[in-house]
Amino acid sequence: MSDITTIEKEALASVEAAADLAALEQVRVAELGKKGRVSGLMSSLGKMSPEERKENGPKLNALKTRVDAAIRARKETLEAAALEAQLASETVDLSLPPKAGPVAGALHPVMQVFEEIAAVFGDMGFTVAEGPDIEDDWHNFTALNFPEGHPARETHDTFFMHALEGDEAKVLRTHTSPVQIRTMMSQKPPIRILVPGRVYRNDWDATHTPMFHQVEGLVIEKNIHMGHLKGCLIDFVKAFFEVDNVEARFRPHFFPFTEPSAEMDVKYTRKGETIEIGAGDSWMEILGSGMVHPNVLRNCGIDPNEYQGFAFGMGVDRLAMLKYGMPDLRPYFEADPQWTRHYGFAPWSTPSVSGGLS
Ligand code: PHE
Repeated sequence: MSDITTIEKEALASVEAAADLAALEQVRVAELGKKGRVSGLMSSLGKMSPEERKENGPKLNALKTRVDAAIRARKETLEAAALEAQLASETVDLSLPPKAGPVAGALHPVMQVFEEIAAVFGDMGFTVAEGPDIEDDWHNFTALNFPEGHPARETHDTFFMHALEGDEAKVLRTHTSPVQIRTMMSQKPPIRILVPGRVYRNDWDATHTPMFHQVEGLVIEKNIHMGHLKGCLIDFVKAFFEVDNVEARFRPHFFPFTEPSAEMDVKYTRKGETIEIGAGDSWMEILGSGMVHPNVLRNCGIDPNEYQGFAFGMGVDRLAMLKYGMPDLRPYFEADPQWTRHYGFAPWSTPSVSGGLS
């Protein structure tokens, strides 16, 4: 049995040399398999004399154990290396830019319409102002001339928040008008602002969602009158819907914070699935507006005998539905990529009045 040492050397060398799990398995079969070299030696024990067997038995067993241990150790090393290689090949490089084409992200129609409205009013000298979504009662109602207990408060379907100890309950703002107050409290006239933002009311059906989007406008200057309001809003509608003429009417309405108040309607006609704005035989309400109430100016420390102004507010989601022919408001908030791809806009095409809005 002088070849035991040689066999062990050779076996251990081929275990070390096995470059992958398949090669190692071949070594295992060649040495320890049924017809393997080591197994062959083991079976030769049966033909030996008892003395020979006594001497060689332990040596052969030790050989088998060492070869087996070497194979197991090599297997562990190769498996760990294979896992490392797999992990390395499966990493995702998050810094890669998105692929061009149909898988690229799209701008949500509401964001597109915000941009379009800002482009039109930006051209008229308005700048964008913002305020918090969580408001206090004073900014959302009282300062806007909604007296305590006035029925107009009820029409807003307000979400009230739990009051903190010793504090009054906050509300989710029901309109963007509180930003009128915040701006007049912190800025001196002349003021010309446009306020895009999220607003909240407890309402849910095909045309109402509990969170929706408004754009508010506010102009405070000397000698401002209803003619400015009408001219400004008619110009806006023409530019926004990209039509040369619109038939519009201002219908008397009530808002606590404007006097007089008016809702603006535009003529439209239905052509199959789509709606054309500007002419036709039906009226559609598109926004609320009015001359800023003297009480609101006084609440903000502005003298109504010196300054006047007008304000307007419109629902952006509805304007987007009208302009881009979307029948239902609810998919706006479902984050369905198929919907976004269909109705979305290229994120790099910023709308401008000179370069085209849509
Ligand atoms: N805040 C009013 C609303 O949400 C809209 C409005 C704004 C009306 C400004 C007049 C002036 O219904």
